[in-house]
Amino acid sequence: MVNARLPLIAGNWKMNLDHMQAIATVQKLAWTLDEAKHDAGASEVAIFPPFTDLRSVQTLVDADKYPIAYGGQDLSVHDAGAYTGEISGAFLARLGCRYALIGHSERRQYHGETDETCQKKVEAALRHSLIPVLCVGETAADLEEFGASAVPIGQLKAALDGVSPDADIVVAYEPVWAIGSGQAATEEQAEQVCAALRATLAEMLGEDFAGRTRILYGGSVKSSNIASFMRQPNIDGALVGGASLDVAEFASIVRFYKHVI
Ligand code: 13P
Repeated sequence: MVNARLPLIAGNWKMNLDHMQAIATVQKLAWTLDEAKHDAGASEVAIFPPFTDLRSVQTLVDADKYPIAYGGQDLSVHDAGAYTGEISGAFLARLGCRYALIGHSERRQYHGETDETCQKKVEAALRHSLIPVLCVGETAADLEEFGASAVPIGQLKAALDGVSPDADIVVAYEPVWAIGSGQAATEEQAEQVCAALRATLAEMLGEDFAGRTRILYGGSVKSSNIASFMRQPNIDGALVGGASLDVAEFASIVRFYKHVI
């Protein structure tokens, strides 16, 4: 069967690049993709810069019509009010964000985000017409204790509780042990969990939802391993951390279709 899902290659910059560096990076990325004749019909590009960069990114993308989507690395469960330090989904939407990352393992680990918080953030994103990119993944200890799929499936079920089958969401499977370690999952490992996540989506929200929802793999993705992931039937793209800060490397990942046979 032909895979009708448009691959998504997303760069999570984490807490790197201030707004001046963001301007230079986005310009360079746009030029590199243009020069390489990137086919926007073959893969969608998205970046997740720090909040303080978003206005600069918006200005550039709007002015020069760059084919680069962007989103926030997090959002508040609340829409407005006395929540010091929080960023509303309404503000992200006003800045032209298409996506919002939710439940990244670094937020779960360092900021105490629970499945319940993630569920509220998914609702908040959808309320503001942002596409949630819900991150799920097991730690090395989870892997040993529960196997590969149990924890990500549990996180998925909890965060998507109450979501409408009409909603547009993206799921990112990021095994915590593969993030920033240089030790990516094998394509078989990643495919196995992504297939299990898709089966869970089908159970929860129907075949149509499962068939159109993109599931990304993340964790030490590079230009040298992206092709093997993209050959898998249930992997529809990548959430890239470290390698997204290197424009040439990230552009090569975006153009994976040139090296997937
Ligand atoms: P690395 O690509 O640096 O392993 O990070 C993955 C990640 O956490 C993306 O969200």
